[in-house]
Amino acid sequence: MSGNPSLVLKKVDDIVFEDLAVPKIEHPTDVIVQVKKTGICGSDIHYYAHGKIGAFKLTKPMVLGHESSGVVHEVGEGVKNLKKGDRVAIEPGVPSRYSEAYKSGKYEIDPDMCFAATPESDPKKPNPPGTLCKYYKSPEDFLYKLPDNVSLELGAMVEPLSVGVHGIRLANLSFGENVIVFGGGPVGLLTAAAAKIFGALNIMVVDVVDEKLKLAKEIGAANYTFNSKSGGAEDLIKAFDGIRPDVVLECTGAEPCIKLAVQTVRDGGKVVQIGNASGDVSFPIVEFSSRELTLLGSFRYGYGDYATSIKILEKNYANGKENVQVDFEKLITNVFPWKEAVEAYDFVRAGKAVKCIIDGPE
Ligand SMILES: *[C@@H]1O[C@H](CO)[C@@H](O)[C@H](O)[C@H]1NC(C)=O
Ligand SMILES: *[C@@H]1O[C@H](CO)[C@@H](O)[C@H](O)[C@H]1NC(C)=O
Ligand SMILES: *[C@@H]1O[C@H](CO)[C@@H](O)[C@H](O)[C@H]1NC(C)=O
Ligand SMILES: *[C@@H]1O[C@H](CO)[C@@H](O)[C@H](O)[C@H]1NC(C)=O
Repeated sequence: MSGNPSLVLKKVDDIVFEDLAVPKIEHPTDVIVQVKKTGICGSDIHYYAHGKIGAFKLTKPMVLGHESSGVVHEVGEGVKNLKKGDRVAIEPGVPSRYSEAYKSGKYEIDPDMCFAATPESDPKKPNPPGTLCKYYKSPEDFLYKLPDNVSLELGAMVEPLSVGVHGIRLANLSFGENVIVFGGGPVGLLTAAAAKIFGALNIMVVDVVDEKLKLAKEIGAANYTFNSKSGGAEDLIKAFDGIRPDVVLECTGAEPCIKLAVQTVRDGGKVVQIGNASGDVSFPIVEFSSRELTLLGSFRYGYGDYATSIKILEKNYANGKENVQVDFEKLITNVFPWKEAVEAYDFVRAGKAVKCIIDGPE
């Protein structure tokens, strides 16, 4: 049983190619996708370098990858909306259809979520397979057709884009509101870009690395930037021409940024926590309550976020690459062929890429 080249993380510091079994259609709504493009995510690097993220610990080998797009290879007899050859983005987490979270419309918080390339907490169960393989199986309703003008590379960015879109939708960001995004990594930049297309007026990106701030402006996601090494809340607001944002999207999880978020948002404003803090943080609780702020927790993405992200890309590219609001493609700094997938991981681990994509396997 083989025919499915896959990239497997055996243990910390050990990624290998393996030929695994081709998945089979078992349920009428199953679809087999031939994976074409996969982005490398910070979480993959955590497992590669440390074997864990928070409570998720790698205890057995796991196929990597969860930011993928591909082409439909085979469909089950009950599949209504997809056919062989369709280009799709893969939503890599499928909740239990019986969970309270799913039924209540918040499937992202289902504790039984089966999420690609995330270690299983029950050691007796196999890890959910990642998407870095030739053939990946998904239920039809977790695959999203890509519009003609949205490339497969952009399709691989729908996953991190949806992380930002989820936070923005939780905050009900309205047209004309002002936004600060903390964090100039891929998620922060995509979050700022999404805020712009949602109609935010003034957008500031905050980071400690000037190159990231430069990129935020170059792609058209931000028109203000601030290096948080250069001062505190007052300096930040001054750099934002005196604007206190309506919504802050915190994509770093770093304690100083969480504090700055609370200190800079307007009275009655909203702070969305998207970034993953590495532990408990000290929090300006008095300021938080006396100014009636709202703090929203945001985890991955849920119903409607993938569809919204795809519409964002569709609108952005509808009039060709020359007439875009945001240059999403500029975030893709490196593309590696399948046979150099391990090198791609080392490259990202060394901090050399913004978004790195692995091609194939063919
Ligand atoms: C966003 O809007 C929905 C629907 O009107 C509402 O239920 C929710 O409380 C709002 N959230 C925030 C943070 O304002
Ligand atoms: C940022 O964009 C807004 C909306 O177009 C505009 O009003 C503002 O002047 C811009 N600020 C800078 C510094 O470019
Ligand atoms: C936080 O972790 C979740 C789950 O691993 C991931 O989907 C999300 O992208 C992370 N957020 C950021 C800002 O990196
Ligand atoms: C794709 O972009 C081109 C311009 O490069 C435009 O002429 C065409 O209408 C677009 N197609 C779609 C489906 O949006």
